Amino acid sequence: MINTLGGRIAQNFRGRFWVFFMPTGRVVERRSRVHPRRTMENRQMMRVVALIPAAGRGRRMGRETPKASLFLGGIPLLRHTLQRFEACNQVDEILPLVSPKEVSFWTDEIGHRSKLKKVQRVLAGGAERQDSVFLGLQAIAGNADWVIIHDGARPFVPPELIERALSETRRWKAVAAALPAGETIKEVSLAKEVLKTVDRGPLWIIQTPQSFEYSLILNAHEKAREERFYGTDDASLVERLGIPVRVIEGSPFNFKITTPEDLILGEALLQYWK
Ligand code: C5P
Repeated sequence: MINTLGGRIAQNFRGRFWVFFMPTGRVVERRSRVHPRRTMENRQMMRVVALIPAAGRGRRMGRETPKASLFLGGIPLLRHTLQRFEACNQVDEILPLVSPKEVSFWTDEIGHRSKLKKVQRVLAGGAERQDSVFLGLQAIAGNADWVIIHDGARPFVPPELIERALSETRRWKAVAAALPAGETIKEVSLAKEVLKTVDRGPLWIIQTPQSFEYSLILNAHEKAREERFYGTDDASLVERLGIPVRVIEGSPFNFKITTPEDLILGEALLQYWK
């Protein structure tokens, strides 16, 4: 672009600075008044980071090896999940959070064996899932407009679902994949006595991915930490702020690998898709 002074105007790749190349050859760099990528016409240029919490010990699996590195179809479980995010055009960067003792294994796995270009680093997660996500949010500060959070233990997330969650984030600041409850649901006492049958009509079973405007989810996590609140997903932290969360239809294939039976189902699916 030529400016009125006859110089050239360019934008650096993050779009935060206007650079004026004066006819004299002098370069003047000036910070834009409005973040250009936050304007409506530039929304498609939002920088999207995928946070993949995968630091769980997987106790319900009954094995010593952390769940992320259990083999599924001959490759470690987490690699399946990362590959699905790698395949999404809208995702710019993928940040996995793994068990502290597995950081070097995964750094090596990703750098040498998996060739995942969007994974630039691997970080150690925290004591609880929410701590792992918070560590990831802090690590990408200043580098993300939107963040899409997905359990490393859900390796069969359809890339189409990731894309759809991100598309909805254009209209809604907080989006969660979910399935309508398909079975009868009852409230049961500790003594296993049925207390009541719940109307399943408005009930949805929540999955990941969940995608958010970065500043919103960071704020929600900070508030939860201040108040020592732990939720079972990230959307619940946003709900506490009184901000609406939009549900989109997830996928039955997007189940979480939790027990040895889930691993058998996973192997069977991979065989079926071969
Ligand atoms: O424990 P849960 O099955 O809900 O874990 C969901 C996801 O969160 C898994 O991918 C797991 O590895 C991850 N997680 C984590 N850090 C923890 C505990 C769980 O990243 N401390």
